[in-house]
Amino acid sequence: MIASSQLKKRYEEVFGSTPQLLAKSPGRINIIGEHTDYNGGFVLPTAIDRAIYVAVGKRNDEQIHLYAEDFQQDFETNLNQIKPSEVNWANYILGVVHQIQERGKALSGFNLYIDGDVPLGAGLSSSAAVECAVGFALNELFGLSFDRKEIAQIGQLAEHTFAGVKCGIMDQFASVLSKKGHVIKLDCRSLDYEHVPLELGDYEIVLLNTNVKHSLASSAYNNRRELCEQGVRWISEKYPKVQSLRDAAVAMLDEMVKPKDADTYTKCKYVIEENERVHRACEALKRGDIPELGKQMFLAHQALSKEYEVSCEELDFLVDYVRQILEVVGARMMGGGFGGCTINIVKKGYGKAIADQIAPIYKDRFNLDLEAIFVKADEGSSVIG
Ligand code: GLA
Repeated sequence: MIASSQLKKRYEEVFGSTPQLLAKSPGRINIIGEHTDYNGGFVLPTAIDRAIYVAVGKRNDEQIHLYAEDFQQDFETNLNQIKPSEVNWANYILGVVHQIQERGKALSGFNLYIDGDVPLGAGLSSSAAVECAVGFALNELFGLSFDRKEIAQIGQLAEHTFAGVKCGIMDQFASVLSKKGHVIKLDCRSLDYEHVPLELGDYEIVLLNTNVKHSLASSAYNNRRELCEQGVRWISEKYPKVQSLRDAAVAMLDEMVKPKDADTYTKCKYVIEENERVHRACEALKRGDIPELGKQMFLAHQALSKEYEVSCEELDFLVDYVRQILEVVGARMMGGGFGGCTINIVKKGYGKAIADQIAPIYKDRFNLDLEAIFVKADEGSSVIG
């Protein structure tokens, strides 16, 4: 956690004035439902107790001054010149400003200081947390009257246009709309949602960070999305009501996609089955059947790895390893894939010992450090000063 007093102090040091507003927006985990969001499907994420923090204040001119604590770097531009930059971290902020402008809302210049404790590149959606912290703070500062769903959508589109990843809505939605102690069962097509208590009984969530970030992640991500869209186009030749894989059945894939392309078929089938796993897992959670929830997670991993092909050796190794451990009832890769964390459902009190047991073997095999991260389901975006 970063204290409000610390944020305020740093803003004052950097900009020589007092911030008008402090806000935060958290990173997220996802229990199950991967690569379903951009297919109009279901997900089960929640915000965590790690967040991106911003301090903002209006200026009297049209300049935007940014300062990122993580990079000890500033960035300046003008409201009339918002475009993607070579400075990567600034793009997540500029993309949000651009989306606000696209919606016809007037801003004046502002200063923005940004810091956070969401580990970068660990698959905990630090980028969505940046977008949502910025969108949420500017919405409050300038009285823009966007509701929380719109703030999430602004963040998602910022990612599409200024970061080049055609992501779904899950990460931003979780960052903005989560409720402490709950997960969100989100219908990514209608954006209807339900907060489901995250009551795991004798179990707890442990994340294991592979410390791998593969550079191919964003191109592979966009490629998977294209295959899903291709599948929908083929199905809709005969079934025009099918607008997304959400509407499709495996029988339609067998008929319309399988004869045309085996890979597209496998990817689309994964999505349809993953949606079913989300429903099963959520029902299991509601009735407190944590072993069944865990089973769905193991199944999801297998499919993400072998069918959707978005895992990597390190993630597979970690999931395979914990399969043999009695105290772990479920595990899978989490998020877009190709690195980041696995999410594990572990008997309370065993998480650290399990991580300590695997770490040297993991180091030996991949020459990488393994890190256990313990998180709690937390509240979405909020004003903190
Ligand atoms: C990334 C994207 C999300 C979602 C996941 C995979 O985190 O930002 O929209 O598609 O990958 O489930």
